[in-house]
Amino acid sequence: MVARIIAGVATSHIPAVGAAWDNGKTEEPYWQPVFAGFERSKEWIAEVKPDVCIVVYNDHMSAFSLEIVPTFAIGCAAEFPIADEGWGPRPVPPVKGHPELASHLVQSLVLDEFDITIVNKMAVDHGLTVPLTLMFGQPKEWPCPVIPLAVNVVVYPVPTGHRCYRLGQAIRKAVGSFDQNLRVVIFGTGGMSHQLQGPRAGLINRPFDTRFLDNLTKDPEANVGIPHLEYLREAGSEGIEMVMWLIMRGACIASITCRRRTPRSATSSWKTSHLMRTVEHEDLRGRTRRLRSETSRCAEAHLRR
Ligand SMILES: [Fe+2]
Repeated sequence: MVARIIAGVATSHIPAVGAAWDNGKTEEPYWQPVFAGFERSKEWIAEVKPDVCIVVYNDHMSAFSLEIVPTFAIGCAAEFPIADEGWGPRPVPPVKGHPELASHLVQSLVLDEFDITIVNKMAVDHGLTVPLTLMFGQPKEWPCPVIPLAVNVVVYPVPTGHRCYRLGQAIRKAVGSFDQNLRVVIFGTGGMSHQLQGPRAGLINRPFDTRFLDNLTKDPEANVGIPHLEYLREAGSEGIEMVMWLIMRGACIASITCRRRTPRSATSSWKTSHLMRTVEHEDLRGRTRRLRSETSRCAEAHLRR
């Protein structure tokens, strides 16, 4: 038996949501619709019970600084403390890692020519903890190990959407060659259109976001080609975080079903129904066939470029 990615989740990681939860404001009229939008997603993931989550997020100068800015970094530690972002660490449990799978991911991704930074010690900030809160609430311990995958979307040059999508595909291949029976859910996190500063602060471009979400399910290649300048113009200076959703999408197979989607502030989750069928099919025929099919799919993607 090998590990497999069974689903992807995409969600904002806005720090205000974490603060609202931590300060007991989830039932206030301003916040109630946001948290209500996550209820079914929480029920879904409680049923799915993933063995491991890979959370794609960006560090907000908590673990890294301008001194060192890795483009892609994978946390290989056994535990990740919660970062103090200026108001003390969020009152959430420390994040337990999965060093074995994380190290395997690094090995496979580097051999696939992605230059991953190995991180054996780092604190994780709201970029990672807010999505966990939204999907799991605030338990005494997180229900499964989490592998942090930090992406630089703060200091240019940031990776392209195409590079992120390809990384997602390589992650899927890497997970599928890990020799343990693990069911893995991958999170792509970050805000959709938003800008925090300057004359366009507060920007929201709903048509752009809606088109991105539509294509994320049906035609991800259409999103993959969006250049940096288009993100800046249409989605604002912080909208570039959306490239992290493409890592999640690349890690799912081409034909997926969107199970749940809520407007802007909530979440979307995709069940890789075709993947599930494929896995069942492939499990009958053994690992070699699975690896072959992965290899050919990656080769096709390479040829299309
Ligand atoms: Fe962010």
